[in-house]
Amino acid sequence: MKEQIPAIQTEALARIAEAADERSLEDVRVGVLGKKGTLTQAAAGMRDVPKEDKAAVGQLLNEARTAITAGIEEKKAALQALADEKALEGIDVTLPARELAGGGLHPLTLIKDEAIGILRRMGFSLAEGPEIEDEFHCFDALNTPEDHPARNEKDTFYFDSGKLLRTHTSSVQIRTMETAKPPIRVIAPGSAYRRDEIDATHLSVFNQLEGLFVAEDVSLPDLKGTLEYFFHELFGAETDVRFRPHFFPFTEPSFEIDVKLTIKGQAPRWIEVAGCGMVDPAVFESINKGRKDELFDPEKVTGFAFGMGLDRLAMIRWGIKDIRLLIENDVRFLKQFA
Ligand code: PHE
Repeated sequence: MKEQIPAIQTEALARIAEAADERSLEDVRVGVLGKKGTLTQAAAGMRDVPKEDKAAVGQLLNEARTAITAGIEEKKAALQALADEKALEGIDVTLPARELAGGGLHPLTLIKDEAIGILRRMGFSLAEGPEIEDEFHCFDALNTPEDHPARNEKDTFYFDSGKLLRTHTSSVQIRTMETAKPPIRVIAPGSAYRRDEIDATHLSVFNQLEGLFVAEDVSLPDLKGTLEYFFHELFGAETDVRFRPHFFPFTEPSFEIDVKLTIKGQAPRWIEVAGCGMVDPAVFESINKGRKDELFDPEKVTGFAFGMGLDRLAMIRWGIKDIRLLIENDVRFLKQFA
């Protein structure tokens, strides 16, 4: 025993020194310290050691176990350090880090945030509604007759269930009045969907920003003043804004708003950016009917509503000639806004 144990120790340390990877190191550990390992078996022989030698042999065993365990740990650390070094081969860690490209906001987000900011300062708060709408909120409650062209399958995306992708954000007007009571001053930015042919100025998914103001004595000059102020804030005080009489089923009178666009080297031209008008009393009546009260009594409250195309506003702001650039994710285009 007294010779056997140091021999096991010497051999084990030699094998540890030779181990080229973690697996062979583990083989050595199992072969020596494992259940059937050489040192473990030697320890089992303790029973047959004469009493007077037991202490000395026990000490040898302990020393061997400690030395071998330490040897394995040391080698493990050395192997790990070697592997780390190898992983860094060819990499100069003292070089300065490569600069990460900073992100930026999409032009649509920029113009939306700006529009919201101006209107919030004027006292409007945010409202929202679902993009998958029913015909009631998108059309009926907005005084839109059954045979109106916007309700046509050719113009609108319908689901088999009869629901549809909202064709405008005006449905949020209805959803707001169903639960809130006057005075109401809300804006609702969001997507709208139409089966339009896609070209330089049309997408089948576009972005609108709806506004609704209902209170006592809201008048047409309020509407005009609010929107003129808005467009002057957005595009500059010198920008020309014009209101053109138009028709919407849910407002009376109704207007379309044009903004005069002047791009260097181009003749100035009017671009349509929004629809608006005074809320039609028929809309209030439909709301009252649904609510079963008279809170929106057309004799007592009036209101104005507007809906603008955010994509158009972005096009005007930055002179973007093709609306499709807004959805193509071309980094060369988007970088200009970052
Ligand atoms: N919903 C109309 C459209 O999408 C715009 C509009 C909103 C007009 C509110 C009047 C009042 O064209």
